[in-house]
Amino acid sequence: MTDQRLPVPAGFAADARLNADALAAANVLADQDPELFWTRVATRLEWWRFPTQIKDVSYQLEDFHIRWYADGVLNASVNCLDRHLSTRGDKTALIWERDDPNLPAEHLSYRALHEQVCRAANALRALGVQKGDRVTIYLPMIPEAVVAMLACARIGAIHSVVFGGFSPESLIGRIHDCQSKLIITADEGLRGGKKVPLKANVDIALKARECSTVETVLVVRHTGSPVAMQVPRDRDWRELLAMQAPVAAAEPMNAEDPLFILYTSGSTGKPKGVLHTTGGYLTYAAFTHEAVFDLREDDIYWCTADVGWVTGHSYIVYGPLANGATSVLFEGVPTYPDASRCWQVIDRHQVTIFYTAPTAIRALMREGEAPVKSCSRQSLRLLGSVGEPINPEAWLWYHRVVGDERCPVVDTWWQTETGGILISPLPGATELKPGSATRPLPGIRAALVDSEGRELEGATSGNLILKDSWPGQMRTVYGDHARFIETYFKTYPGSYFTGDGARRDEDGYYWITGRVDDVINVSGHRIGTAEVESAIIEHQAVAESAVVGYPHDIKGQGIYAYVTLKAGLEANDALKQEINATVRRVIGAIAAPDVIQWAPGLPKTRSGKIMRRILRKIAADELDALGDVSTLADPAVVQSLVDGRKR
Ligand code: WT7
Repeated sequence: MTDQRLPVPAGFAADARLNADALAAANVLADQDPELFWTRVATRLEWWRFPTQIKDVSYQLEDFHIRWYADGVLNASVNCLDRHLSTRGDKTALIWERDDPNLPAEHLSYRALHEQVCRAANALRALGVQKGDRVTIYLPMIPEAVVAMLACARIGAIHSVVFGGFSPESLIGRIHDCQSKLIITADEGLRGGKKVPLKANVDIALKARECSTVETVLVVRHTGSPVAMQVPRDRDWRELLAMQAPVAAAEPMNAEDPLFILYTSGSTGKPKGVLHTTGGYLTYAAFTHEAVFDLREDDIYWCTADVGWVTGHSYIVYGPLANGATSVLFEGVPTYPDASRCWQVIDRHQVTIFYTAPTAIRALMREGEAPVKSCSRQSLRLLGSVGEPINPEAWLWYHRVVGDERCPVVDTWWQTETGGILISPLPGATELKPGSATRPLPGIRAALVDSEGRELEGATSGNLILKDSWPGQMRTVYGDHARFIETYFKTYPGSYFTGDGARRDEDGYYWITGRVDDVINVSGHRIGTAEVESAIIEHQAVAESAVVGYPHDIKGQGIYAYVTLKAGLEANDALKQEINATVRRVIGAIAAPDVIQWAPGLPKTRSGKIMRRILRKIAADELDALGDVSTLADPAVVQSLVDGRKR
């Protein structure tokens, strides 16, 4: 399967934004004169002051800093809106496809979006939000989410979008960590016909002492269900916006001023606040969005992610809008009301570019070809994949069944930390191999290293590092710069460590194999095993737990929890459900274990370290490959877990 190759379709090669020659030239320039390459890339934005300092980066621990375009001045919302008004004012910026397919979609022009953003910016200013203040956005996939993000960008406030599926407790952590002054939420979210009590969750969160920094809660009426409004803290978004002027001055931002914080899970501790800055992030998101998706003026582009994740930030909001594209904002889920929803939406809006996650592809693949074939999909010209490794079988189904073998598939590898796509084919230039993210984009210096940090050459496997910076790179962990350096720059001094393992084939193509740390990727959502463990032990019956990922047909990885109960307690299914409910309450449904196995004990070394390697093997049902267990404090534990697995 791995040697299958698909050539660039002739039509694409003929008039692609970047064909093979242009890509080769870009690679040469990026290698030989990176400053000039990244200067040219930055010209795509509108700067109030074009930068003269392009790259100023040192990964050396004594003098660590990452700065791009440091003397540039710009505003992200101006780049996403004002800049387009004279040429694209009436062009649709957002197509909002609602959860309920029977309701009409809404089209917001660049002019209409600009007006909403200005009103929201004025409202935030009137409420005392200033440049540098943090604003938490806890909204469903409604246009107000985009308006709220861009309004923050307009006034220089730093937004922190929290995915609507997260629990009040998760919300508390994220509000507390960045000391938010204001929260923007909705009465309720709506996903797959189910209501999500967002405002009620905010009310629970704000009872916590940790959230005392919050002065105001703006509430978007969405479902219209009655919610408690606490005066004067809670304000009605629409009423407030109606009172504002439809124009608002945009704050001049230094390129290195923060644009947003986005929390993501790491291998240890609480989620990290990944901080992205204005100039480099926006340059990189816009550049990659155009190049990877071969963007044309008349494209209808649909990325199915949620704005609560980085994919939504870079490839629903900032990249597409900076490029003046038409971006579909989908409130629902791919399987509601049935498995043909995506294809119906594609036909309804004549979508040309479709970007989704392998987990969705696998779930839809399971439903067979009929729901796909019942829709035309003739408008499609390009397909994308993101978030986790895509298995060749799913890749080929996507290409053959969804794309009728006409549309290239771009498998895009990147991370919250990278701000934008780093390894991906370019549809007009790269020969595809199903299951491979292919090659690094121009200017990206990927490499593979062994566990001692020695760089590996040629066709090989190893840990994936990036030997140099790029403009979209995160700048720090909010409030914990030491953790930033520790996490990414200490393992392989002089390089950024991705946390991923990969194989590189004889053509230099990368095949990402997945995380090599204690992070798991469940349905494209990143979850720290340590976080799930600390949620599980909040249940009073639990003495100890260890969580690992295991291969899951649809989700990519599932969550497998080994749980040791306190002495004398009886293990039963009711207790499993309670533990599951505890994780949902503490983190959210996305972190709930798929499997809980009772563990009389956990395999530990004599120094007390849990040997996860063994737990992963047992969870994966690879019982013959447990390896050396002789260094364990109590090797008999392993046999009891194996027996438990078989039962
Ligand atoms: C991790 C980052 C990228 C935005 C959404 C997820 C995995 C991501 C791919 C891909 C194989 C992938 C990696 C990475 N990943 N894209 N195309 N092929 N793996 O962002 O939540 O920060 O997760 O997702 O393991 O490290 P994230």
